[in-house]
Amino acid sequence: MPLSILVLYGSYREGRLGIRLADYIVKGLGEAGHDAELIDAKAVGLPMLDKRFSDYAPGEAPPAMAALAEKLSAADGFIFVAGEYNRGVQPGLKNLVDHYLVEYARRPAAIASYAAGRLAGTHSNAAWHVTLSGMGMAVIPNTLTVGQIAQTLDDKAEPIGESGAVLARGLPRFIDELVWWAEGTKAARGQ
Ligand SMILES: Cc1cc2nc3c(=O)[nH]c(=O)nc-3n(C[C@H](O)[C@H](O)[C@H](O)COP(=O)(O)O)c2cc1C
Repeated sequence: MPLSILVLYGSYREGRLGIRLADYIVKGLGEAGHDAELIDAKAVGLPMLDKRFSDYAPGEAPPAMAALAEKLSAADGFIFVAGEYNRGVQPGLKNLVDHYLVEYARRPAAIASYAAGRLAGTHSNAAWHVTLSGMGMAVIPNTLTVGQIAQTLDDKAEPIGESGAVLARGLPRFIDELVWWAEGTKAARGQ
C-alpha cells in the first residue's frame, strides 16, 4: 500500500546544492510507489521561531503553519535531508522542525546527510539523530551519507559517475527500511 512520506529540507542559500538530494529522494519514493512530497523550509517560509504551532489558539496560527501541521500529522514517515554548517545542523531546517512536536509522534524518521566535501554531513547527521529521537520519532538505523554532492548529483538531480552509482544502489535499501518502520508504526497506531 502506498505510504505518505514527507521529505524535509532546509537550506535557504542561493545556489543551494542539497535540493538535488531532496529531489532525488522524492523521485525515488515515487518510483517505489509511495506518495512523496518535498517540504522545502525556504518555500514554506515560517518565521524565526516565536510561537510554536501548539502555542496558537485553534484556528489562529498562520495559514502556512497550520497547513504544514496537517501534512505532518497525516504523514506515515519523514526523511530529513540534512546539510551541515560549521559541524552543526542547518538553521532553516531546525527552525521549521521546532515549530511542531506532537505532529511527528510515533512515526519513523530517516536521515540523509550531504556536504560539498567528502565528510558527507556526518556531524549534522548525528546531531539530527539525537534531536529527532528526542522529539518522539523512531530514527531508523539505515542512513544515507552523500559526500561531494555536486559530483554525485547533477543540477537535474540525476546521479553522476561512481558516487552517483553508489547513491543509486543505496537509495532503494534506505527507502525499504523506512517503509518497514512506517508500516509497523502505522499498524501500531491502528491506522
Ligand atoms: C556557513 C557554512 C558552513 C559550512 N560548514 C560545513 C561543515 O561544517 N562541514 C561540511 O562538510 N561542509 C560545510 N559547509 C559546506 C557545505 O557542505 C556546502 O556549502 C553545501 O552545499 C551546503 O548545503 P546547501 O548547498 O544545500 O546549502 C559549509 C557551508 C556553509 C555555507
